[in-house]
Amino acid sequence: MQTISPILQPVTLGGLRLKNRIVMAPMTRSRADDAGVPPDYAADYYAQRADAGLIITEATNISAQARGYPRTPGIWTEAQVAAWQRVTAAVHRRDGKIFLQLWHTGRMSHPDMLAGALPVAPSAIRPEGQIRVHDGMKDFVTPRALETAEIAGIVDDYRHAAINAKAAGFDGVEIHSANNYLLEQFVRDSTNHRTDEYGGSLENRLRLPLAVVRAVVEVWGAERVGIRISPVTTTPGNTPLDSDTMATFGAYVDALSGLGLLYIHDIEGVTQLSREADDDISFAELRQRFSGAYIANNQYTLALAEHTLAAGDADLFSIGRPFIANPDLIQRLGNGAPLAEAPKQYWYGGDATGYSDWPAMAASMAAAD
Ligand SMILES: Cc1cc2nc3c(=O)[nH]c(=O)nc-3n(C[C@H](O)[C@H](O)[C@H](O)COP(=O)(O)O)c2cc1C
Repeated sequence: MQTISPILQPVTLGGLRLKNRIVMAPMTRSRADDAGVPPDYAADYYAQRADAGLIITEATNISAQARGYPRTPGIWTEAQVAAWQRVTAAVHRRDGKIFLQLWHTGRMSHPDMLAGALPVAPSAIRPEGQIRVHDGMKDFVTPRALETAEIAGIVDDYRHAAINAKAAGFDGVEIHSANNYLLEQFVRDSTNHRTDEYGGSLENRLRLPLAVVRAVVEVWGAERVGIRISPVTTTPGNTPLDSDTMATFGAYVDALSGLGLLYIHDIEGVTQLSREADDDISFAELRQRFSGAYIANNQYTLALAEHTLAAGDADLFSIGRPFIANPDLIQRLGNGAPLAEAPKQYWYGGDATGYSDWPAMAASMAAAD
């Protein structure tokens, strides 16, 4: 008799009963309209993937100012909430669980995405490289440093988004504090040169992110709030973002643990590209310093997840790219079946094609007959 991998067996996350230890990683797919409203077929896309233990949605803008990329969804208007209600209902009909990822891109944006306004950031430091806007790639601009008096408004925007996520029927929320978006820009000493109480010392750099976490926890309760971090990422360039990554993230994780968050979702390495990390960075130590669950991400296969679980180094494993072309990824992993690959042209933008029309295995085999 075939044994079922421990990764594919049910598990409890806080008060949530999950079908398995696989989490669908958040993936921007750029199918929303210009008002940030997800399309009807987003409900099909997410429901098709509801066999994952937990789905984390694509990053979702908390406010108009938070936007950075074309056709990304939002959660600040009633129309957006109504569209997300269709998504959560479809996932729940298939007995799935779904969290919304809350996003503010900060300096990783462009005036083209903000009706001509400058992106905001902790400090006026231009990111390296280019960003995708409506009509192709453009150089990043130097953002505008947020006034101290504006910071409370950012926290309010997160609170409002968290309240809307509840109205939309999500099971919880994940705060996006990874990949050098706004919250990580505050955390890192290379992107935060402020001289007020939100910059300078490590305690000050963590002040806004922790205020956001507290505001979201007030809405949801800590047992329904997770956070995503990426200690090793160099995004958007190739140089380390911190003078002392482990000190920064050790203190951050300690504080998050103290707030009783449900999980930390750790991108181990540089997202999509590599699992390498300098010797002075220990994911195992971050995990030990956190009292809740640890979701590991980046290039996980079933075998690597099994190995990591057996070593006691993670509780759950998020998988991104393989979910794009394999709506039935969980069945395929269970059967050792081959995985379909999604051409990159379908990753961002377009319509239902290459998004919600990938066949399940039985259907694709029948089609091949
Ligand atoms: C098309 C695409 C879109 C992504 N969008 C997001 C996003 O919205 N939020 C986020 O935190 N990570 C995002 N990521 C990163 C993934 O969540 C994940 O970290 C990455 O794909 C590595 O996991 P994998 O090796 O299992 O694919 C995206 C990745 C891809 C491929």
